Amino acid sequence: MVNLALVGLGYWGPNLVRNFATIDGARIAALCDLDVKRAEAIRKRFCPSARIIADQRVLADDKDIDAVVIATPIRTHYELGALFLESGKHVFIEKPLARTADECRALIDRADEHKRVLMVGHVFEYNVAVRRIKQYLEAGELGKLFYVYSQRVNLGRIQHDVNALWSFAPHDISIMNYWLGQEPLRVAARGFSYLNAGVEDVVFVTLEYPGGVGANLHLAWLDPRKVRLMTMVGSKKMLVYDDVSLDSKIQLYDKGIARLDDFLDGPETFAEFKFQIRSGDVVTPAIQFDEPLQSECQHFVDCVEHNRKPMTDGLSGLRVVKVLEAAEESLRRYGKQIELS
Ligand SMILES: NC(=O)c1ccc[n+]([C@@H]2O[C@H](COP(=O)([O-])OP(=O)(O)OC[C@H]3O[C@@H](n4cnc5c(N)ncnc54)[C@H](O)[C@@H]3O)[C@@H](O)[C@H]2O)c1
Repeated sequence: MVNLALVGLGYWGPNLVRNFATIDGARIAALCDLDVKRAEAIRKRFCPSARIIADQRVLADDKDIDAVVIATPIRTHYELGALFLESGKHVFIEKPLARTADECRALIDRADEHKRVLMVGHVFEYNVAVRRIKQYLEAGELGKLFYVYSQRVNLGRIQHDVNALWSFAPHDISIMNYWLGQEPLRVAARGFSYLNAGVEDVVFVTLEYPGGVGANLHLAWLDPRKVRLMTMVGSKKMLVYDDVSLDSKIQLYDKGIARLDDFLDGPETFAEFKFQIRSGDVVTPAIQFDEPLQSECQHFVDCVEHNRKPMTDGLSGLRVVKVLEAAEESLRRYGKQIELS
């Protein structure tokens, strides 16, 4: 039985509590938040036998706790993660792993040194639709991938301490890194603030992956519709992933462009007549959908129990934060392209 403590019970933390409370092999032994009244309310609702431990140092010294799940604001991830790893706990940290690549590396070093599991909450990598798309890509279903774009927009929650880039893009970057099995080579970003000076409500990011694969992200909490849409265009087929849809999360379009010069010979063919549009069936694969958060929580407990490396380990967190850091630098420099080493 893995004894868990959950730290940070604001907007997202209660979702983690709800899921961890139902996982076989785990027990929520303690809850921790600066707001003790809030912790008490969550305890009553989901895990009445848990203790409330307000002081994080007392929690770190508690020998009864095996693992700590952190869902506090991003600026606190490093300090809390380091404290719990140093005191011998396994640690799960909500996305993004930390504020800087250096902080991520320091967390990874501490986890290695103390031989503890460090996992980051890249929840979409536990999403059945995202995993199915990875299988399509690996099977060459789309042919050569040309480009990907993503819209992750809605109205609210307006944040004050992080912009739309840090709030939303960890999801898209982790998904794209996972799908492509690679990290981007360069990044450029523009952002616009309307509600709070210096906090971008809307951000556009352009990434370039190896092999000339282009990617674009549109991230905003100032938009009339809730949209979670990713579109991929390949040489053979095209694909749309709509995370909001209940019954057609993935649509595979047998559409593409055929080169006419594959059929016509003769160098005298006019360039503008060389391409022909091919438009075939649209297929909506049936997907047995599980709650990704449940799978993510189960995976963390399994990794702790069997001392395994998580699918979304510290390095995966670092790869995402490197891109976020570079995109933030680009934002500050009005869209200057930043090379990622
Ligand atoms: N996976 C997702 O889809 C998803 C969605 C939203 C947020 N998140 C992530 O969850 C984390 C928390 O975001 P949120 O929106 O819930 O923030 P929030 O501000 O709503 O809640 C944070 C909570 O942490 C508490 N807290 C702050 N410092 C603390 C400390 N040192 N010790 C104990 N408690 C402390 C606060 O009192 C608050 O209750 C962030 O990393 C965010 O990126 C993930």
